[in-house]
Amino acid sequence: MIEVQHLSKKFVDNWALQDTSWKLGTRRSMGLLGPNGAGKSTTMKIITGLLCATDGQVLVDGEDIFHHPVACKKKIGYLPETPPLYDDLNVKSYLKFVCGLKSVPTYHHTSQMDLAIEKMNLQSVAYKPISDLSKGFRQRVGIAQALIGDPPILILDEPSVGLDPQQVFELRKVIIALKTEHTILLSTHVLTEVQEICDDVVILDRGQVKAQGALQEILSQMQPGHSIRIQVQKITKALLTDLNEISGVISIQQDGQWLEVRCGQNFDRLDIFVEPILKNDSGLLAIEKHHARLEDVFIEVTKE
Ligand SMILES: Nc1ncnc2c1ncn2[C@@H]1O[C@H](COP(=O)(O)OP(=O)(O)OP(=O)(O)O)[C@@H](O)[C@H]1O
Ligand SMILES: [Mg+2]
Repeated sequence: MIEVQHLSKKFVDNWALQDTSWKLGTRRSMGLLGPNGAGKSTTMKIITGLLCATDGQVLVDGEDIFHHPVACKKKIGYLPETPPLYDDLNVKSYLKFVCGLKSVPTYHHTSQMDLAIEKMNLQSVAYKPISDLSKGFRQRVGIAQALIGDPPILILDEPSVGLDPQQVFELRKVIIALKTEHTILLSTHVLTEVQEICDDVVILDRGQVKAQGALQEILSQMQPGHSIRIQVQKITKALLTDLNEISGVISIQQDGQWLEVRCGQNFDRLDIFVEPILKNDSGLLAIEKHHARLEDVFIEVTKE
């Protein structure tokens, strides 16, 4: 478990973090979000012991990272914004080098390297020089080095940045697989990625926590109740009256050809909304359940 308590960091006269507090539970995965310069990488660098905090504490499984740096660092695998790769080495020699850096006992080197290679699907490039690898593979080698030493916690700073959609998809699959065995703290600007991978979210803006909690709770706070979006060719008063009379409908908002119908209950079947549209000959174009998106929350809390 990671506990960040009243953490602040000042660079000269710039507060990169101001009194931030949050918790990440064991085997949970958290998305650390925020606009550029929000303080995500600074937070990660402090948790991994690369930077000192100006104020506050970080506890890893109850131990203070500043007082027990070695014990805490052993529990954490870290992929920085720029993966620390050596282009001249091939993937296996690089991972062997990382085993040495992390003081993994020699008799565990082979098993540790093989496990990291297997988890990150790097078998096909294990003997290729790192300089010859695509960005997607380089990121995976970066995560493989984080896995050496079998740390229970993984901290990944924008692992999918700069990757093509296929590589993003492949990387996401491996990160989702890692969730079963690791606690994961992930920063990204790809919010759909957070919705697919993370249980919890912290949104930072200019060094302050603007939202935090379980992803589903944050989404339902943003949009209490349920909503159905309907697109029709023509919207008439008679149609609006008929839709308003459906039991459970709270309000209807019109946006061009679209109607956003807010409901107090979840409708499994949408037929009930189709009947008035047919009756009024409104020309149904589309009907869908609308789910609150993390984008909406992000824009709302960082709009200042
Ligand atoms: N070593 C440093 N010296 C001075 N200022 C720094 C240093 N590192 C970060 N900062 C400043 O601290 C603030 C937070 O930076 P940080 O890199 O943590 O943001 P971030 O959320 O990771 O942004 P991005 O999405 O661009 O990666 C920014 O204003 C940045 O300019
Ligand atoms: Mg950053």
